[in-house]
Amino acid sequence: MSSSIIVLTGAGMSAESGISTFRDSNGLWENHRVEDVASPIAWERNPELVMNFYNLRRKNVMEAEPNAGHLALVKLEQKYDVKIITQNVDDLHERAGSSNVLHLHGEIRKARSTVDENLVYPINGWELHFGDVCEKGSQLRPHIVWFGEAVPMMPVASRLARQADILIVIGTSLMVYPAAGLLYEVPDRVPKFLIDPKASPAYGVEDLSIIRETAGSGVPALVERLMEEGG
Ligand code: OAD
Repeated sequence: MSSSIIVLTGAGMSAESGISTFRDSNGLWENHRVEDVASPIAWERNPELVMNFYNLRRKNVMEAEPNAGHLALVKLEQKYDVKIITQNVDDLHERAGSSNVLHLHGEIRKARSTVDENLVYPINGWELHFGDVCEKGSQLRPHIVWFGEAVPMMPVASRLARQADILIVIGTSLMVYPAAGLLYEVPDRVPKFLIDPKASPAYGVEDLSIIRETAGSGVPALVERLMEEGG
């Protein structure tokens, strides 16, 4: 049986595809404070702003292409059982060709019902509109896990993390919980790699190799090494 590689990705994974990270520009995300556009309260107070914000983000994602880092992770599947846990709401891992992708924070190209979170639909094109409703007749909202909301996929992600033989973390500030806690659920003896140009040394995690490179160069280099080492 091939070894299991768990990959945890964040916004830095898609930075070289032209998608902005969250915490790299003075705490502002495309000129908005995150809590003004990514919370249930924001949706309640100013749904037009939130809808328009995510429509523009969706357009950006649809125009973006996977980068060398996304593509390298696909190659890793030739030798390993690879499971990607992503905090990203874009679909660049899927479009690159990765087979197992779990979205912790939702998917921007999908909408969900405002009365039943299990009703999730693909969005045609880049715009979700007021008046687009679910089969129960209620307004659709972006299928995003906002601040203050539960992370329904977390138990599945935790289980995967505990079964890892190798962990690769790419492009995340590890500031948002519960996602960041996954790093601590992987057993101590498991080799762990963190690829991020601004990675900090003090995570208090056993067996962690820090690679201060971007996803576009650091991931292909690590993949090449792991492909030589076996599976
Ligand atoms: P952040 O914006 O917090 O962190 C992005 C990380 O990517 C930083 O550590 C950067 O150093 C790194 N980075 C920047 N360019 C890079 C590159 N080219 N290659 C590799 N790394 C690079 O983003 P996340 O950690 O993903 O949640 O943020 C976590 C969550 O907070 C997001 O999923 C989002 C946000 O609020 C929701 O929208 C629910």
